[in-house]
Amino acid sequence: MSTFQAPKGTYDLTPPRSAKFLAVREAISAPLRDSGYGYIETPGFENVELFARGVGESTDIVTKEMYTLTTKGGDQLALRPEGTASVLRAALEANLHKAGNLPVKLWYSGSYYRYERPQAGRYRHFSQVGAEAIGTEDPALDAELIILADQAYRSLGLRQFRILLNSLGDKECRPVYREALQSFLRDLDLDEETRRRIEINPLRVLDDKRADVQKQLTDAPKLRDYLCDACKAYHEEVRALLTAAGVAFEDDEKLVRGLDYYTRTTFEFVHDGLGSQSAVGGGGRYDGLSEMIGGPELPSVGWALGVDRTVLALEAEGVELDLPATTSVYAVPLGEEARRVLFGVVTELRRAGIAADFAFGGRGLKGAMKSANRSGARYTLVAGERDLAEGVVQLKDMESGEQSAVPLAEAAAELAKRLG
Ligand code: HAM
Repeated sequence: MSTFQAPKGTYDLTPPRSAKFLAVREAISAPLRDSGYGYIETPGFENVELFARGVGESTDIVTKEMYTLTTKGGDQLALRPEGTASVLRAALEANLHKAGNLPVKLWYSGSYYRYERPQAGRYRHFSQVGAEAIGTEDPALDAELIILADQAYRSLGLRQFRILLNSLGDKECRPVYREALQSFLRDLDLDEETRRRIEINPLRVLDDKRADVQKQLTDAPKLRDYLCDACKAYHEEVRALLTAAGVAFEDDEKLVRGLDYYTRTTFEFVHDGLGSQSAVGGGGRYDGLSEMIGGPELPSVGWALGVDRTVLALEAEGVELDLPATTSVYAVPLGEEARRVLFGVVTELRRAGIAADFAFGGRGLKGAMKSANRSGARYTLVAGERDLAEGVVQLKDMESGEQSAVPLAEAAAELAKRLG
């Protein structure tokens, strides 16, 4: 241990568990890559105003959770708490929406930062894989994204997740609902902070986890009763497309999400094995965000899936991922000359695309064989002076325990053959 530790609310990914994170990123992005989504990468920090305007001044993310800093040049920056605002900013800046090919479909993977109270599944540094489809209003696009996330989770072997679905209405019907909700909420017995929230973001009050608040909300006006005909029809179409695709979902009227940019479709993927931080992913439509950050009208939809929580969900379900073996061949040289020769064989194997490793540091046979075992290699190559004198290496099958002498010049080819 050094004098230092990972900062509070963060953790390091170390082998072997880190391999699961790579596998999860790969599994989530694979269906996107196969569906016309191009990879985008944006900086880890942005102008703080982008998130204030994009995510929303009244959200917890902006008011309490952003890591902000002022540069020596006086710029106000924030470590990105989420990806959507950055991706849209970058797409606008690169004029991707003007290339005449809407929607602009993008996927991303990276680190995000929120100054939250750390607990199991909630960290100050976490990672997401996300997807955004920019510039098109089409219920099939909302459905596509939900179906692709479902496909990603299923390909990982995850089963105990549920999809919660809601519609938050649009700029026509939501303000009417908002006012109705506000007048209902103002008559309740609530604390000062919640009363303030009624005025800034009343829908968030519906999301309050406290039992005494929830009890008072039973008769709250329902957004469903206020949706305009266009929003209703849009939502029904999303539901029908999901049903036709065999993707099960639950209608959840209380699903409001913690970011202000959502309109119409919102959804969350929740896992029942995770305790209070049960959302493994979430997203929705954000038809007004582009204009909020100074762009043209670009109705869009997207999601982000949390990599950390997906790994926790896999572990909670006891899913063993089919991880590729990291090492197929492990070489154990006995003596200086063997070292040089086997190092050459290892290099040759690697160039031929075979994962190979080597007992570095001139250890004895026993220690080196222990490392070979630990590496999970299917084969070991052992050579000492006598072997070299005879022009052979000992090839051991670690599964069967069988060992045979193979001509040195043929070792690489023989291994390639055996490993297919
Ligand atoms: P979000 O719901 O804030 O949405 O985050 C998405 C996922 O990131 C969560 O479901 C969770 O798995 C993970 N996550 C969030 N905060 C933490 C944390 N503190 N620790 C661990 N994991 C966390 C968004 O970020 C939106 N940008 C999604 C989106 C994309 N909407 C439209 N497009």
